[in-house]
Amino acid sequence: LANGLSKTPPMGWNSWNHFNCQINEKIIRETADALVSTGLAKLGYTYVNIDDCWAEINRDDKGNLVAKKSTFPSGIKALADYVHSKGLKLGIYSDAGYFTCSKKMPGSLGHEFQDAKTFASWGIDYLKYDNCYNDESKPTVRYPVMTQALMKTGRPIFFSLCEWGDMHPAMWGAKVGNSWRTTNDINDSWESMISRADMNEVYAEFARPGGWNDPDMLEVGNGGMTKDEYIVHFSLWAISKAPLLLGCDVRNVTKETMDIVSNKEVIAVNQDSLGVQAKKVRMEGDLEIWAGPLSGYRVVVVLLNRGPQQHLAITANWDDIGIPPKSVVQARDLWEHKTLERYFVDKLSATVDSHTCKMYVLKPVA
Ligand code: DGJ
Repeated sequence: LANGLSKTPPMGWNSWNHFNCQINEKIIRETADALVSTGLAKLGYTYVNIDDCWAEINRDDKGNLVAKKSTFPSGIKALADYVHSKGLKLGIYSDAGYFTCSKKMPGSLGHEFQDAKTFASWGIDYLKYDNCYNDESKPTVRYPVMTQALMKTGRPIFFSLCEWGDMHPAMWGAKVGNSWRTTNDINDSWESMISRADMNEVYAEFARPGGWNDPDMLEVGNGGMTKDEYIVHFSLWAISKAPLLLGCDVRNVTKETMDIVSNKEVIAVNQDSLGVQAKKVRMEGDLEIWAGPLSGYRVVVVLLNRGPQQHLAITANWDDIGIPPKSVVQARDLWEHKTLERYFVDKLSATVDSHTCKMYVLKPVA
């Protein structure tokens, strides 16, 4: 969407994956504090996004949305002021239907201009717009109304289309929003995570600065996968130019989780200025090679073992990953934080254990 936002994929946190409807203003404030105190904010995680269940089920007598008094007693404006005072941005959530998916608060269908104005007056920076309980008209009709309403406020607000991918929002989302879901909801398991990555990959060619494919939010740190599986999760989201929205409780983040989500080199791949989503370039049984171009004639490659067998050998040929033949290449291992000692010509091989990956940035030197 041409609103000047999101030259690179958005980064931050969202309440849904960890807290579902059990949210309140204290959690949001403490999360903002934690993003700063852990150093995550400095690494780019700046959006603090409230998901479903923040509002009263009834609008006020003028038809305005109101924050839920029992859980957000200070109101959203005060929360936005607080979050902004920490150098962060506040995101909120609504729905292109009559209710949100929880059915615990109203949606914005028919109230788009009024709600966009409310969000702007509160100082909202990001809107996630869900698709439950709608009137069954096409999302290509309902979503652009909110786009227009947001534009009319004059406030730059990142617009995240949460249509779950049914109506292929990748194919129409670029004019409507800054990101669009390509999948239904993720859960905290290997199968769910890897299948979201697959569904999202199909639409790679539609991603570009200002508009990104969204395979749903991160589960890293929620406990359902092994450390290696979370590394695969984070690596695939990074090369897929997916929004990096943390979905764990960052107030209680472990060192293991921090090691993954604070990997600067992997984040830099996600935030690379070229903004091109990586694709699967070769599949052989359980082995896959994902690759995509980066700025400066570099290429990022992920060598992935999706199966149960340990120690499988994978070879990435220059021909498969878009490096000119005969090029001499320097390889940086982004998880080992090591530049490999020798140069590579024509190919790079590695052995990869079950449910793990290797991630390299390759730079031609001659
Ligand atoms: C469905 C969305 O896909 C989820 O990410 C979350 O926002 C829930 N709705 C909230 O009800």
